[in-house]
Amino acid sequence: MDFCAVSETLHINEGSKNEKYKTLLQQIPALIGDEKDPIAIAANIVAALKQTFDFLWVGLYRVKGNELVLGPFQGPIACTRIAKGKGVCGMAWERKTTLVVPNVHEFEGHIACSSLSNSEIVVPVFADGEIVAVLDVDSIAFGTFDEVDAFYLKNIAAWFVPLD
Ligand code: SME
Repeated sequence: MDFCAVSETLHINEGSKNEKYKTLLQQIPALIGDEKDPIAIAANIVAALKQTFDFLWVGLYRVKGNELVLGPFQGPIACTRIAKGKGVCGMAWERKTTLVVPNVHEFEGHIACSSLSNSEIVVPVFADGEIVAVLDVDSIAFGTFDEVDAFYLKNIAAWFVPLD
């Protein structure tokens, strides 16, 4: 049997949200290893986030012209294209900022990809001052995300660059 070059086991800290994020971040360099392909890297980071927190949906939308286009993700199937300014993702892109949405049903223009989603966070991924993608995370629970998630997800987002 041949073994995959990536460490087989993702360590998941059973402590606080802070500790879970810290443990995940520490493992990202090992998770990437020698890999250079940005989609392969992003796919495993997204999977590690999903595995650590069991969020409903974790994924990337990449900037392609005037739209965001679905990238590597884990969770239910999702819409493939989002226009600038539309939904939480398009608005985070347009405003160049992280958006924390405690209740998606109260967010005007929210795009419901899964009826199970009740709260959401969208973090822009920057490269040379430009947004090249957004990291979108959805939760079944209301009010899942706060400044702790925003802080760590921004750190995680930096590992997605470069994205082609
Ligand atoms: N809810 C997002 C759309 C993407 S899905 O959640 C995966 C939005 O409003 O932009």
